[in-house]
Amino acid sequence: MQGKTPVPVTTADAIAARAPAKINLHLGVGPVRSDGYHPLATIYQSLDLFEDVIVAPYHRLSIHVTGETDGVRVDEVPLDDSNIVCKAAMLLAAETGREPAAKIHIIKRIPIAAGLAGGSADAAATLVALNQLWGTKISRERLLQLAAELGSDVPFCLTGGVVAGGGRGEQLAEVLGADARLQWVLAVNSGSLSTPKVFKEFDRLSEGQDVAMPHLPAELIIALRHGNAKIIGQHLHNDLTAAALSLKPELAEMLDAGIAAGAVGAMVSGSGPTLAFLVADADQALNVSVELAACGAVALHRCSGPTEGAVLVPTKVVS
Ligand code: C5P
Repeated sequence: MQGKTPVPVTTADAIAARAPAKINLHLGVGPVRSDGYHPLATIYQSLDLFEDVIVAPYHRLSIHVTGETDGVRVDEVPLDDSNIVCKAAMLLAAETGREPAAKIHIIKRIPIAAGLAGGSADAAATLVALNQLWGTKISRERLLQLAAELGSDVPFCLTGGVVAGGGRGEQLAEVLGADARLQWVLAVNSGSLSTPKVFKEFDRLSEGQDVAMPHLPAELIIALRHGNAKIIGQHLHNDLTAAALSLKPELAEMLDAGIAAGAVGAMVSGSGPTLAFLVADADQALNVSVELAACGAVALHRCSGPTEGAVLVPTKVVS
């Protein structure tokens, strides 16, 4: 917890945890499985764009959401049992045989349904915060298993870093030596893209074709180990690109505009509609941001990765 800015809270018994957004530097997608999921071969990277989750003792489960940055529409977040944070609280409570009672405040900074795993980050932070509040002492290993029950990206939001994902994205293996700092400009776009819809569009577009099982990208992993942004930029890849562009054709122009403005790489983030532009320095970031704003991006975030995964953060009581 050392060295972190304390999160303001209203009671001394509140606990705060923080979890990062993710991008997929590589997203290889295979043919749909019988359970409706797609096999993935992905390389995740966590970003320094965080959700904070504050939990405190309460007589029932209550959720409250506030937003702190542009492009975050907190009114779209459900406050009932369908919220992944509720599901995380209920899963952890069931695991330990206790009532899922807590007051949970989510401070959203990650745009919603944007391909950045904002909901998964909330779930990961909730598991870490409630494990501490309730004193349930669930091991990291078990937390990762519970996280996988909540969603394919939730285990990664617990670990952070640069990690290879297999299975439906939940089977993780750290990519050693790939922790060179990368600078990103994220262009948040109007309207959301639902992940299931994008995967369905992937199926529709690949109908009648032989979709191969995905493989981890050796060239990207080598490039990540060398840490040269320009070479890494050439190896970014997302198999969901055609599906996301089919549902939102205007994204194609923005991808081209970012590259023309000097970005060393550009990609749809996860299932979109956020676009991620890799830049080599602050000048490039500025040029790219100006161009993306002119193209109609709803919000721009400058961020970098990798970062650590979900962790407890210190709190400071304010009245
Ligand atoms: O795992 P998660 O609940 O986040 O996934 C949301 C939806 O995205 C799934 O119900 C499925 O439609 C789609 N998905 C998929 N293949 C994956 C991950 C997600 O088809 N590997």
